[in-house]
Amino acid sequence: MSASRPSPAAPRRFIEPGQLWPDDRGVHIQAHGGAVVRHGDAWFWFGEDRSRDNDPARRCIACYVSRDLVNWTFRGQVLRLADPENIGPEWILERPKVYPCAQTGKFVMYFHLDGRLPGHWSRYSVARVGVAIADAIDGEYRFVRSFRPLGQESRDIGQFIDDDGEAYLIFESRPTKGFFIARLTPDRLDVAEQVAFVAAPIEGGAIVRHDGLYYCIGSHLTGWWPNANKFLTAERLAGPWSEPRDFAPPETATFGSQSTNLLKIVGTKQTAVIYLGDIWRPYDLPDSRYLWHPLEIGGGQLHLEPRGWMPGPWSIDVQTGEVAYA
Ligand code: DGJ
Repeated sequence: MSASRPSPAAPRRFIEPGQLWPDDRGVHIQAHGGAVVRHGDAWFWFGEDRSRDNDPARRCIACYVSRDLVNWTFRGQVLRLADPENIGPEWILERPKVYPCAQTGKFVMYFHLDGRLPGHWSRYSVARVGVAIADAIDGEYRFVRSFRPLGQESRDIGQFIDDDGEAYLIFESRPTKGFFIARLTPDRLDVAEQVAFVAAPIEGGAIVRHDGLYYCIGSHLTGWWPNANKFLTAERLAGPWSEPRDFAPPETATFGSQSTNLLKIVGTKQTAVIYLGDIWRPYDLPDSRYLWHPLEIGGGQLHLEPRGWMPGPWSIDVQTGEVAYA
């Protein structure tokens, strides 16, 4: 084995928030700003691959598969895209989300596509979503097009697939000072209609439905720096949505993380809802970590409550939904 190739990682027993998270090759998982989607009897994790040896002209999305949410097998860089809209060398691709499509049997990826408009001060002034499609969940994905959903500026995107299979895109829109929830078309290739506009300026949006109530989480707009993330509730996706409230002790700035997704595991004994967050390292993005942790949820309340000062190692029995702490 060459010196540069890592040795395969031994199976792990726990998810360890904030630590390096080696995949099956022993390489720290590159799935930042991502989301986990169930397909068949496995979970697929897609996210920004910020590997140092990536071609600097391309932006890459990695895909991993797991059957226990702890041990993840690298399935490859499922998108290695060169500037698809001639935005310029600083172009940005962030926060990929993949929707399996029952109607077409295809897999549709949305991502935040951005860059500097000519003469604009901001590197995030293009503010569009990109769409890519694949025949298999682990790719390869082919770029289809980009657009501004509902004609609005769109930066951070989030994903929600309801229990009835309807699929939604959540997107933050700076000029309107809030976020939109939009239903996707049955083929998932377009935004069909606005479901809600929520006048709360949050990004990193994610939604879960639990006991007939919708819970939405997101962060304040502080770039890469963590803040006290918030949650809102509503009986219907269309709203009305509650005022934003803390779900973690605000002085911890969500334990240094930013929301990206909510994962619901419906087990035979209980349903677990897991917070998926990023601990960004803006000066060394490939070294960014993950904060995944079960949430206390119910009756309109949401809490990220570690057993100690900080979220520690834990695991989940994906059959029963039961969570165990190390
Ligand atoms: C916050 C967003 O949530 C991230 O995805 C990224 O766009 C940073 N801002 C960039 O500052």
